[in-house]
This record gives sequence, C-alpha cells and structure tokens, in this order.
Amino acid sequence: MNNGLAEKTKELFAKEFGAQPVAVAFAPGRANLIGEHVDYNDGLVLPMPIDAGTAVAWARSDDGRMHVHAADFGESDSFEPDAPTKPSEVSWRSYVRGMAAKWEGELPALKLLIMGDLPRGSGLSSSASLCIALGRAFAAATGTDIDPTSLARHAQRTEHEYAGVACGIMDQMAIAAGKPGHAMLLDCRDLSCEHFTIPDDWSVLIVDSGVTRGLVDGEYNARRQECEAAARALGVDSLRDVRMEDLEDASLPEPEARRAAHVVGEIARVREAAKALQTGDLARFGELLQDGHASLRDLFEVSHPVVDELVERLQSKVGSNGGARMTGAGFGGSVVVVLPESRAAEIAGAGNGKVLRVI
Ligand code: GLA
Repeated sequence: MNNGLAEKTKELFAKEFGAQPVAVAFAPGRANLIGEHVDYNDGLVLPMPIDAGTAVAWARSDDGRMHVHAADFGESDSFEPDAPTKPSEVSWRSYVRGMAAKWEGELPALKLLIMGDLPRGSGLSSSASLCIALGRAFAAATGTDIDPTSLARHAQRTEHEYAGVACGIMDQMAIAAGKPGHAMLLDCRDLSCEHFTIPDDWSVLIVDSGVTRGLVDGEYNARRQECEAAARALGVDSLRDVRMEDLEDASLPEPEARRAAHVVGEIARVREAAKALQTGDLARFGELLQDGHASLRDLFEVSHPVVDELVERLQSKVGSNGGARMTGAGFGGSVVVVLPESRAAEIAGAGNGKVLRVI
C-alpha cells in the first residue's frame, strides 16, 4: 500500500471516529494480462496485482454496532455485526454487509473507515479489492489466520449473493494470492497457481478508456449462462473440457457457438502466453494479446467501440514488439498494454488519457 493512502486513511478514521485506528488493512486491485471470461468456465487466467487498491482502517466499537464510513463516497452505514441485512440496492454497503454476514466465527462490533485509490468502474476490480481488504481487517480484528483461497471464496460468495454478479474467482484469487510484480497463472478449476516474474525489460501499462462500466451485470450473467448452455449441449461439465475440433463437429446454435469458440481459444492463448512470458518472447506475447482482443470483440462481444479504438491506437504505437487489449469484464473499462520497458514512458505520455504504470 502506498504510504499516502495509509496515512490518509488513518487521518480520516481519526476525524470520523475521534480516535486512532488499531491498524490499516489493504488489498490491491488487479490487471488481467490475458484469460478473459474463462474463469467461470474452469479455465486458465494470467492476472497480476497492481499497486493501487483499498485500505480499511479499523478499531473496536463499544456500542455493539458496526460503524462504517466510505470516505470516497462520503457515506456511512451502521448495523449489528451478527445480523447484517442485505441492502435493497447494490452499493459499497452490499460488500461490507455481505463480508460481515458470511464471516466464519463471531465478528466483534467494529469501526471501519474505507478509502481507495483504484479508479472505479475501470475494470481493475475495485469490488474484489474492497472485499479482500475487509476480510483482512476482519481477520486481524478477530486474530484469525485465514488462507488466501478461503478468503477469495468468501469474497466471491459476497459478490454472488450480495451484489448479484455471478463472477468467477480470478479477481479474488489474484488479489488475495498474487505477488507484486508477478503474473499469476491460475487454474480456476483447482485453484493451483504459479507466479512468474515479469521480465526486467518488459513493462505493463493500464490505460483507462474513460468509458465506465455501468449496468452491465445483466450482460455478464448472460454470457455466463450462454457458456453453461454450450457446455450442457456438448455434454461436458465446463468449456475447459472442450477442444476446438469438438466445436467444429458440434455445430452449436448462435450465440453459444461464438461464445464457446472464444473460451476454448482463450484458454489455449493463456497457456501460450505463460510460455512466452517464461521465455521472454514479447513479440509472441503481444500477438496473443491482439488475438485475445479480437476474440473478445467479435466472438464474446464484450468490448466497446471506444475501447476498440484505443486498443488500435496503442497497438499501432507499440508495433510488433508487444500488445494491447481490453482487460476485465469489458463493456468499457481499461486497456492493458505490455511493451518494452524502454518505451513505457513514451507510450504512457502519448496523451492516451489516464495511464497507470503497473511495472
Ligand atoms: C470480472 C469478473 C471475473 C472475470 C472477468 C472477466 O472481472 O469478476 O470473475 O470473469 O470479469 O474475465
């Protein structure tokens, strides 16, 4: 966590609650290098944690109630720790109450001050970051040692049951188990993972398209259902078990055929990308990013014209040694660019909007 965020969170806690916090818990956001919309198909993904994230300052509350202040929204919430009800509308409160409601073991009454430095709605997983930071604060407050996988599953349940998004496990695992400066090859079927250092002469940039994702949860859940329908029609548990040849023989109806073709192709690209990363083959890595973007745009249909245009512009600047593609759920959000370290400053400064340098 950057010092500025920790200090600011402590300061605002003291202002809001009139006392110092016991500690500040933190969880980062994530960028996904490749492997999009495959986590809920038991596939492979290659995300990495980023520096920006969510901080939660905490202390015990002595009136038996949880008191929560979300500094970025200037809003508060209060509830009984053992009986948090689900808010009628999805907001930051849904995540706090969901994490508290599902917490294993008794949760004491706490005062919490939440503050983040992740741009919201830009596809960098601010909601999973909030959930994992809250989980870390609860673990510290209860003296519990919760392993990253259990914490990730707990956060995913909150997203499903309290925010109504049938998300996969990639974001929560990347945030709970990822290592700074490393890409994590995660197998979403058994949650095994390998961490790869990003080569010294590579750089990763995140460029915000300025199109914030809004009201897309319905689209997300629909894509998931289409993938599940395709798997059922093919007689398998998940699209992870399907090969491109199976799809050619099966002649699925549309849009299931396009969705399945994306998933099967994307899982293969992740395997290839992990190899290119290990061998430092940036040109190959870049090609895979470009193919991945085209597949998300044309087969999975989750991109956005503004994002497509930004990807094209960045790709033409980067050339053949590196690549650009949308990252996250889509429908707006950010573009990830992997390029030679020596060109990062030039591309970042080329007036493409808000740029975050991951490494
Ligand atoms: C969102 C979800 C993830 C994943 C991505 C798309 O970030 O939370 O589980 O499905 O979209 O890859």
